[in-house]
Amino acid sequence: MMMVSGPMSSTSPFTTLSPSDVDAARARLAAARRVVALTGAGISAESGVPTFRGAEGLWRSFRPEDLATPRAFARDPLLVWEWYESRRRGMGAVRPNAGHDALVRLEEGVPEFLLATQNVDGLHGLAGSRRMVELHGNLWRLRCLGCGAVREERRELTDLPPRCTICSGLLRPDVVWFGEDLPAGALDQAFTAARAADVVLVVGTSSLVYPAAAVPEAAVSAGVFVVEINPERTPLSEACALSLRGRAAEVLPLIVGGAA
Ligand code: APR
Repeated sequence: MMMVSGPMSSTSPFTTLSPSDVDAARARLAAARRVVALTGAGISAESGVPTFRGAEGLWRSFRPEDLATPRAFARDPLLVWEWYESRRRGMGAVRPNAGHDALVRLEEGVPEFLLATQNVDGLHGLAGSRRMVELHGNLWRLRCLGCGAVREERRELTDLPPRCTICSGLLRPDVVWFGEDLPAGALDQAFTAARAADVVLVVGTSSLVYPAAAVPEAAVSAGVFVVEINPERTPLSEACALSLRGRAAEVLPLIVGGAA
């Protein structure tokens, strides 16, 4: 069930990226046969998508309990849909950045790869990532509460809340809300791959939201080389092998290589 681990951790400000740590991460990746990347909102920050926590985060201006729980939707589907539709509109024109692209090259270069993303923006898919699980769903999909049908809809939704064309049931965004279970299978796949990986990259996530945050923890416990990429400290920073303090779009191309 998706839940946040506690109050937002105090994060230290940006610190300099260590060139020797970058070299170490690059060497590990070059030798790896099995790689897992877990991503969060931070990887899309440089595409212009707001994160949830932090100074400009969405949860600074909005309350998740009003907008991102099944109860909130049951109480006021129109309010929830207006918020989601404004986010969808804000994301309509955004493009993947150099961080997303680097993960596509990484996937192409290693025999076994899995991208587990918490993001619902669809930017990894747009960049070309294929071996991927979307742990928290996708904002561009709609799911019917009546018949369960799921469809992709990228066009603006003019008549809110939207209704199912098959059964007229209420449609909801096909995302995982607080208190809900993650998609069956996706989480297991992420845990299994992370425990068996040579390297796990943890990119742009506050590591506060469970169960996704438990994936790198399980990898650390299994002795896997875990590399965090984040301009800020997180609860994972101490435990992982390397914490690269920088932005995803800068650091990922450095450690993956092959940028155009
Ligand atoms: N590159 C890398 N990391 C960045 C960048 C950047 N350019 N900019 C910000 N970050 C980091 C922040 O320091 C922060 O640690 O990205 C992280 C974003 O954290 P959150 O906003 O908490 O996003 P995330 O971890 O993905 O949230 C998890 O919470 O609200 C739910 O369902 C929602 O999937 C989301 C989940």
